[in-house]
Amino acid sequence: MKVRISDDSLALALGADSVADAFAAAGAVVERTSSWGMHWLEPLVDVDGIGYGPATVDDVSAILDGTSALCIGPIAEHPFIKPQQRLTFARAGRTRPLSLEDYEATGGWAGLRRAQAMSGDAVIAEVTQSGLRGRGGAGFPAGIKWKTVANAPAPRKYVVCNADEGDSGTFADRMLMEGDPFQLIEGLAICAHAVGAQTAYIYTRSEYPHAIAKLRAAIDLAAAIIAPLHMEVREGAGAYVCGEETSLLNSIEGKRGVVRAKPPLPALEGLFGCPTVVNNVLTIAAIPHILSEGGAAEYAALGVDRSLGTKPIQLAGNIKHGGLYETAFGISLHDLVYAIGGGTASGRPVKAVQVGGPLGAYIPPAQFDLPFDYEAYARADALIGHGGVVVVDDSADMGRLARFAMEFCAVESCGKCTPCRIGSTRGVELIDRIRAGAKVLDPVGALPQMHNAPKTARTADQDIALLEELCETMKFGSLCALGGFTPYPVLSALRHWPEDFQ
Ligand code: NAI
Ligand code: SF4
Repeated sequence: MKVRISDDSLALALGADSVADAFAAAGAVVERTSSWGMHWLEPLVDVDGIGYGPATVDDVSAILDGTSALCIGPIAEHPFIKPQQRLTFARAGRTRPLSLEDYEATGGWAGLRRAQAMSGDAVIAEVTQSGLRGRGGAGFPAGIKWKTVANAPAPRKYVVCNADEGDSGTFADRMLMEGDPFQLIEGLAICAHAVGAQTAYIYTRSEYPHAIAKLRAAIDLAAAIIAPLHMEVREGAGAYVCGEETSLLNSIEGKRGVVRAKPPLPALEGLFGCPTVVNNVLTIAAIPHILSEGGAAEYAALGVDRSLGTKPIQLAGNIKHGGLYETAFGISLHDLVYAIGGGTASGRPVKAVQVGGPLGAYIPPAQFDLPFDYEAYARADALIGHGGVVVVDDSADMGRLARFAMEFCAVESCGKCTPCRIGSTRGVELIDRIRAGAKVLDPVGALPQMHNAPKTARTADQDIALLEELCETMKFGSLCALGGFTPYPVLSALRHWPEDFQ
């Protein structure tokens, strides 16, 4: 009997190590695998394909006897897993993260071998044919970015993997790095071959110690396979803005993580001034499948309109069945939140979901028919971002959440441009004033003056108009997405739940 338990950091945080130790002490053969991504069931115990979860040390003997009430049946047939179209997360729950043997046995390195036998241009043509777009949030076509780097005349070129996963409610990059590090390494090696880069960096956050350890161990194990490519992991210090590609490049260069003006694009003048591909973990991790025989066509056949392939969606917040759900683009929020996620964990009605991290719009249930598709979201003044879906129930105060968005921007702003640096602080003050009910603030905006309000006091309506104007200025005047996208949560909360600002 083989018992498999994830060593993903979410499972570890929920006690997976002690459960694994208890099975080993009971004489079972224990393997540590990646996570299936059903977070509410972790630690999930897989006994010859049958799942039990969430398990504790006290459940071990009943699971071994086959009498445990935690049994969920065959894991691969579970309603959360079966309908998924897992390409990027095809190995999730099935393989040991640092086993080269498991990786090879599940098709590993096939894409790289095939790519190495092709010219760089031919590899880029297949990536373009697949329709793959940047999975970090912006959705820029990967093939065009690679071609720009490949065509740039330069003696040195770089590939940088943006693994600085900073969006609230997102964890797909972390799960991929911890659970299937060879796939990311293979994708980077294919990209480096295609564009003619000699060095690849994976930039991730110091808050991801397990991912960093796994990646470093995996790079050592794969060194001979990816040679002569040199690959390194670089740790950031946790600034949200270092997920923005130009401040990320500054950080790798040892400089302060401040945004650079574009142009020049990193594809032409990136790391150390050289042409550089900067792609998110999930973009790069999709590459081995795309470069496998027939992979590009299979990828392009999934999805809707210009949003092709699959999207690993992360269900989080106040949701009953949270976790990683990979499926073709086009799925509705209604299906994600209710049919798959099971509604709220609290049992109360859903009030809103925030899609796309702290800079994403709040979407009300009336718009839950919106298909997961870059352009459909843009038309609805929303963004898909990195695919985080955070649910809140009807007890949420949307005015407070809008204030949090402005406050987050004020705290994380790199300070380079005025609309973001000053605008976010003024935004917090304005929301406070609106919520306090048209009271006039003292000259530095710190305390409401309850008495002797001057006759020139602005009304709440005037303050709301001012907040909208401020958001417009931030949206169109900020240098990067941090200042430019903060208006999305603020304006959507104001539009759909004005009563929460009174
Ligand atoms: P962007 O639209 O400026 O650029 C997208 C990418 O395409 C960049 O890599 C850019 O260098 C490249 N590019 C643009 N034109 C090009 C051309 N002609 N040739 C070659 N490359 C070209 O968007 P940006 O500012 O890089 O990213 C914004 C996105 O980041 C937002 O959509 C947001 O959702 C996302 N985001 C993701 C976070 C995460 O944790 N993953 C956190 C915060 C924001
Ligand atoms: Fe820096 Fe904010 Fe301007 Fe971005 S928008 S460059 S984070 S000040």
